[in-house]
Order: sequence, then structure tokens, then C-alpha cells
Amino acid sequence: MERKIRIGVIGAFRGMAMIKVLARHPEAELVAICDKYRPLLDSCTKESSLYGRDIALYENFDDFLNHDMDAVVLANYANEHAPFAVRVLDSGRHVLSEVLPVETLSQAYDLTEAVERSGKVYAYAENYCYFPATQEMRKLYRQGLIGEFLHGEGEYVHDCESIWPDITYGERDHWRNRLYSSYYCTHSIGPLVHITGARPVRVTGYETPNAANMSAQGFPGGTSALIVMQMDNKAVVKSLHGYLKREPSSIWYALYGAKGMLETDRWDGGIERLHVFEEGNPRTEASESYRPRRASDTALSRETQGHGGSDFYPVHYFIKKILGDPEGAESIDVYEALDMALPGILAYKSILDGNKPYDMPDFRNKADRERYRNDRFCTNPAVAGQQLAPQCSFGVPAIGDEVYERVRKRYLERG
Ligand SMILES: NC(=O)c1ccc[n+]([C@@H]2O[C@H](COP(=O)([O-])OP(=O)(O)OC[C@H]3O[C@@H](n4cnc5c(N)ncnc54)[C@H](O)[C@@H]3O)[C@@H](O)[C@H]2O)c1
Repeated sequence: MERKIRIGVIGAFRGMAMIKVLARHPEAELVAICDKYRPLLDSCTKESSLYGRDIALYENFDDFLNHDMDAVVLANYANEHAPFAVRVLDSGRHVLSEVLPVETLSQAYDLTEAVERSGKVYAYAENYCYFPATQEMRKLYRQGLIGEFLHGEGEYVHDCESIWPDITYGERDHWRNRLYSSYYCTHSIGPLVHITGARPVRVTGYETPNAANMSAQGFPGGTSALIVMQMDNKAVVKSLHGYLKREPSSIWYALYGAKGMLETDRWDGGIERLHVFEEGNPRTEASESYRPRRASDTALSRETQGHGGSDFYPVHYFIKKILGDPEGAESIDVYEALDMALPGILAYKSILDGNKPYDMPDFRNKADRERYRNDRFCTNPAVAGQQLAPQCSFGVPAIGDEVYERVRKRYLERG
């Protein structure tokens, strides 16, 4: 039997979802875990699926990178993936990156250059492309069931107010407190890009102001963002995401074609249920709804419950891509990842520029990406330099230290 792919994971909080898949995947060997927060590393040794295995634990990324391995999963801070990915690729390893791929257009340049120079696999872990319903939408669309793509809508509305202490730890500079409204857009846009293969070519953004309930948790950015895009086949996409009030949270996609439409359920079935209307088909004339089967029906895929079972697939397809297996074609490469993510950056430029439309570069094209080599526009002072953007177009609320102290206290009380 071929040697298994030796993989390490950095970031053991969200990374635990990947760790659990890797620990039991027949074609992978989990060899190392890195997290600078020691209690998380210690909890790895108690995790039942890792019990008794020889897995090296590191607090320091440089030490981790010296470990003998073929590939690295990046589940570190969402805004720091690109510089870490470049280091991993330059060390001759494959990369699977959590969301999002880059913080700036300049990082998108660095990342594509590093992927091309290394010849290694870069895969983007946008798991929302791999729900039962979104995988089925991709299959049906590519079979031609609804004809040419005309209009798509994606939505990721998740009111995180109640869990904010658990995911920001009361740190003023945690990336979640530094987010701007349109940045975290690949959960809503990604599946539409992956299903249709269409590429955004023009982007316009709108945002809502900061909501008092979120600044009370330490978040000063806009509450939600609406992104409208023209695609390269002239279709239109509308994407909504943010911390609006709604329970349960909404993960929802609709796709209109020239002769029918596909839509996930917005309330009862969520991304487990798909509605189908196909013009001229008596069975679906009044629309048909059903629960699609999982794309991969193995014990491990069935037992991986996280995010509607989608957490299995980014890891599985990454391994398959490295192995040269045809299933690896489902994996999301760096260019597709940027087609999903750059609209969030450009939409924020649009928001700060009176909602003006912005052209979307194609990073497959060297001349296109060269123009953005020094574009460090973002809301992170450590990265943006002179190109620092305010965190909300409607004014940024001043948030005192006492707010972060209170949130920190709540985080510690909850354990
Ligand atoms: N796809 C999804 O459904 C989904 C869900 C949740 C989170 N995420 C993503 O997962 C990533 C991590 O988010 P999270 O929720 O785990 O919270 P987080 O960002 O607070 O945790 C990151 C972890 O990485 C560790 N880390 C960061 N930099 C490090 C370094 N230089 N050296 C060692 N350890 C380091 C931190 O100690 C922390 O434990 C983010 O990119 C986020 O967008 C994705």
C-alpha cells in the first residue's frame, strides 16, 4: 500500500474538526498539532480519536514547520492564512486553508505566486460548498437540469451575539473584533461559485451600521453586508451575510437557470433539503423537495456531523487531490478561493466609495494580479499601513476597555 499522507494541523480550536477526520482517514496520518494556547494542546491528548497515537504537539509554528510531514492544515486566525500558507508552500508542503484565504489583494498576489512557484496542492476549506444540498445543486446544475445560470442568492446570517465571549475571549484585537462587514463572505458566495463555475467580474457592496448589541460585545464593525455581483456569463448574484437577528441561523442558497431553479430550505430542512423546479417536467412542475444523499457514503463521512456533515469533505478532497485521485477535482484551488473571497474586499472598497461598482481582477492572469501587488487595503493596522480603512462606513463606535474586561470575565466564567 502507498505511504499515507503525513499531515499536521495548526490551530486546534476549529482545527479539531479537521483533526478528528484526519485521525481516522485511511489515506492520512495525523503527525503533528500546533497551537500556542497550551490548554488546547492538552485537550488534544484527551480527545478519544487521538488517544494512544504518536502525535507531536507544538506551541511554536517554526518548530512545527520543522516536523517531517507532507501537508499542513491551516486553522489559525482567519486573517493570517496567506502568510502562513506561503511559508508552508515554500517549505515544499501542500496546504489546506480554512476560511478566509487572504486579508488583502497584496496577499492574494503573494499566495498565487507561492502556489505556482511551489507546484504543491493548495486547497480552500470552504465547507459550505459540501453540504448535501449544495453538492446536489452542483451535480444537477452541471447535468444541465435548469439550463444556463441567470441569478443566484446566497445567505449566511448568524447572530453570534450570545457566543461572542467564547469566540473572541474578550480580546480587543481578536480578528473577529477587527472584521469589517463584507469580509467574511465565502460562506454565502462560495457555493454559488463552486456550483456554477461562474466568476465574479463586477462587485458592489452595501452595509448596515454597527448594532448596539454587537458593540456591547466589543465588535465595532457594520452588522451585515449585501454584495451584488455580475458574473462572467452575465448572471447576477446577491450575497447577504452578518449578525442579523434570526433563529435558527440562515444558510440558504437559490439558483435560477433558463429553465428551472434549485433552492435549499430556509427554515425546516436547511441545507439538508433541496427544492427543485424544472420547467416542463410534470414531477417538479409545482416543485419537488427531497433530502439529497451525501456525496461520499463511508463510515467516516457519516460519522462526521460538524456543519451538516460538510466538515468531512475539505479534508477528504484535499487528500484525494494530493494523491491524484479523480475525487480531488471537487477540491477548491487558489483561483476559485479568490473568486469567492476577493468580492468581500472589493465590496468594502465599494461601500467606502459611495457604493461604486468595482471590477474584479482574475488572479489566474499574471498581468491582472500584478496591479494589486501592493494593495494592502484592510482594517488591520498591522498589515494596512497607510491604506488602513475604518471599520464601518457609518462611523466606528468607541468601545472602552471595560467592555472587553466584561466579555473576558464572561468567557472565563463559562470555562
Ligand atoms: N468553515 C467553518 O465552518 C468555520 C467555523 C469556525 C471557524 N472557522 C475558521 O477557522 C479558523 C480558526 O477559527 P477558530 O474559531 O478556531 O478561532 P480562533 O481564530 O480564535 O482560533 C485560532 C487558533 O489558532 C491558534 N493560533 C493562531 N495563531 C497561532 C500561531 N501563530 N501559532 C500557534 N497557534 C496559533 C490560536 O491559539 C487559536 O487556538 C478561522 O479561519 C475561522 O474563519 C471556520
